[in-house]
Amino acid sequence: MTVLMKIARGAVRRVKRVMGRVPSEQESLELRRREKAERKRLAFETTWQHDGPVSRRPYTSYDEYVAHQSSKLEIAQDNLVQHEQERFTSFVDRFRQCEELASRHNVVCLGARLGTEVRALIELGHFAVGIDLNPGPGNAFVMVGDFHDLVFADQSVDAIYCNCLDHTFDLDKICGEMGRVLRPGGIALLDIYKGYEEGHYAGAFEAMHWPTSRFFAEIIAGKIDAAISSQRNLADFGQDIFDQFVLVKRGAISS
Ligand SMILES: C[S@@+](CC[C@H](N)C(=O)[O-])C[C@H]1O[C@@H](n2cnc3c(N)ncnc32)[C@H](O)[C@@H]1O
Repeated sequence: MTVLMKIARGAVRRVKRVMGRVPSEQESLELRRREKAERKRLAFETTWQHDGPVSRRPYTSYDEYVAHQSSKLEIAQDNLVQHEQERFTSFVDRFRQCEELASRHNVVCLGARLGTEVRALIELGHFAVGIDLNPGPGNAFVMVGDFHDLVFADQSVDAIYCNCLDHTFDLDKICGEMGRVLRPGGIALLDIYKGYEEGHYAGAFEAMHWPTSRFFAEIIAGKIDAAISSQRNLADFGQDIFDQFVLVKRGAISS
């Protein structure tokens, strides 16, 4: 398109906008954002199971859940690779600012996908490893595994990091495993999506959703026998949709 044609089209758009027929690009963006949010709300309200305060995607079986969750990487991969460096930097900054993490040396990352958060923790001097149903081929940072069934010894883990508890199939099972492997005084560092009472609705891959992030953090704390020691929103890292919670495991070291 020539420069003159572009100018002419812009002028036509401006005239139409003034006459109230064509929304501006910003207005169109906002409109699309609202339409998408409305579609998510409708899908959540009409197709999910709401048999308790924590709602669940109605998988017909565990195998269907695993197949669905494992399929996400292919869809997300190009975007992830494109933004890998900025995601890595953001993780480094977030972890560095988490005071409770500094003194916990070994960290297991649940649902770590390509391992960006694992590499960030290693950069900060931690011993870190990830677990994911589908970490992609040849991933040196993330083991193939299911976070409902961890291979680590009882009370052997200083910290667990997870930003995808909304992908859980069985809450009792994952919490049983988190509570089992965390040592007393160890932490669960959890980035939790805001809930439906906070205006956020689950997307295409979430398997669980809740009224508020705090409500869900309290459920997890109860199930793993931990106390919530801090909460902060991640808006400073461009992730205002997430609240970050630090849960400190109670209990004595077993002999
Ligand atoms: C939203 S992504 C988060 C990825 C990563 N933490 C990040 O920030 O890039 C959710 C990830 O959880 C993984 N996942 C879902 N269910 C899982 C399970 N039961 N066990 C292990 N990983 C699982 C998916 O394969 C996916 O990579």
